[in-house]
Amino acid sequence: MSKLIIDTDPGIDDSMAIQLALASKEFEILGLTTVFGNINVELATINALRLLQLANKVEIPVAKGASKPLKSEFSGGVPFVHGDDGQGNTWQPPGCLSPISTPADEFLIEQVLKFPKQVTIAALGPLTNLAIALSKEPEIQKLVKEIVFMGGNAFCSGNATPAAEANMFSDPDAADLVLGAKWPITMIGLDVTHKTIISKEALEKISEFDSPLNNHITKAYQFYLDFFRRVNKIDGTYVHDASVFTYLIDRTLYKTVTYPIRVETQDCLSKGKTWPSLGDADHEEGEALQPWKNRPKVTICVDVNSEKVIALMQKRLTKG
Ligand code: BDR
Ligand code: CA
Repeated sequence: MSKLIIDTDPGIDDSMAIQLALASKEFEILGLTTVFGNINVELATINALRLLQLANKVEIPVAKGASKPLKSEFSGGVPFVHGDDGQGNTWQPPGCLSPISTPADEFLIEQVLKFPKQVTIAALGPLTNLAIALSKEPEIQKLVKEIVFMGGNAFCSGNATPAAEANMFSDPDAADLVLGAKWPITMIGLDVTHKTIISKEALEKISEFDSPLNNHITKAYQFYLDFFRRVNKIDGTYVHDASVFTYLIDRTLYKTVTYPIRVETQDCLSKGKTWPSLGDADHEEGEALQPWKNRPKVTICVDVNSEKVIALMQKRLTKG
């Protein structure tokens, strides 16, 4: 069992990802940390607590995190993707749980120092909490087991803009800091999540499993399915955040490459774009041209056995 912290902005697909992690015996979940992103951090925290309550996992702590990007204001989220409540406008009443008093960045530092080389951080939203933790306690670079994050687009177009993926676009300064730190880090970006589609039929199969959490997520997914039907013209959804856990469960399902990455931090056309050091600038670590010079290599998922990923999700999400 791997000790895990889930950093999240729930988010409809975050919810299914959390459900998948909770259903997987590979993980010992130390806590959830919340961040602005799909919705504001207040709602993100309410949603995280509510999901744990529905799952009857009330012992798992939730630490509230950043309310805005490092260098700008919160833009208002993406209600057209996830609903005004981040949960497909299901407007679940807030549960009876509260967040712990420790803020997210301090919780991350505390747990990594307490369990050296044992904690995996699964990041499903903007990387702001991780960037703040890193600036406060750079030692965590050496002491974290690994970071696996959903975000970025190395060799394909974006979704927030044609250039950039939503989590990177939401706080590119944080992303550039986190991708420049010397910790083992893996990017699960649109390169693979756009190749992994869970069909409406597969979701219907999952919805047959009767549990308070699954019944809630089934309702929320109706909103998410409508979005993908309208915008992406698919009868299903891309599997974004849950792919972090299918990767952690079975890495053989993914093909990876490694490159130093820079993130475009300027407020310009390609804001939030994750740039691997490609072409003539693709030298060994430390030798790449500026501004990639001395940046560590990031593991980037570039291909996926999507049939097996969907089968794995179906199996895990339909068990009692
Ligand atoms: C990412 O953006 C959010 O809308 C999703 O929750 C996911 O983390 C996909 O680009
Ligand atoms: Ca998310």
